[in-house]
Amino acid sequence: MKGSFEVQSVEETWALATQVAAELKAGDILCLEGDLGAGKTTFTQGLAHALGVKGRVTSPTFCIVQEHPATGGASIPLLVHMDLYRLHGEDDVLAIGWEDYLAQGAVLVVEWPERAGSLIPPEARHIVFLHRGEENRQIDIDI
Ligand SMILES: Nc1ncnc2c1ncn2[C@@H]1O[C@H](COP(=O)(O)OP(=O)(O)O)[C@@H](O)[C@H]1O
Ligand SMILES: [Mg+2]
Repeated sequence: MKGSFEVQSVEETWALATQVAAELKAGDILCLEGDLGAGKTTFTQGLAHALGVKGRVTSPTFCIVQEHPATGGASIPLLVHMDLYRLHGEDDVLAIGWEDYLAQGAVLVVEWPERAGSLIPPEARHIVFLHRGEENRQIDIDI
């Protein structure tokens, strides 16, 4: 799925996340780029819902990583949601167990992937969020 999408509400962001979720498979890495408040966590909530995650998906800024068992389809057993905002570089990212998470075969969603630098594998997919107005966001998808 590729393209630049203009959404006007959280509901439209969730709808887009649902379309993205339908194309994911275990082991995929999604890098979510964009400023604070651009909608990365909101998009991840929509993705989690579509993957059958039960319970709330909150911003992992303070605990960095959250693991959500996914029950929607047998092919994706786990969603791992990371927010690297508070980390300061590749050594920090390695210290949270980055390589173990990569090897886990989960769908891995990474907010602030810039912090991981060259640790982001080349096969990772990228989604860029731009704040365009109160509920207006531009979401550029390359997966
Ligand atoms: N179209 C939209 N898509 C996503 N979030 C939106 C949208 N419109 C308004 N918002 C609001 O913007 C905020 C986005 O926050 P969040 O998803 O936590 O951003 P980030 O994770 O990028 O810092 C939320 O309060 C959300 O309700
Ligand atoms: Mg966030």
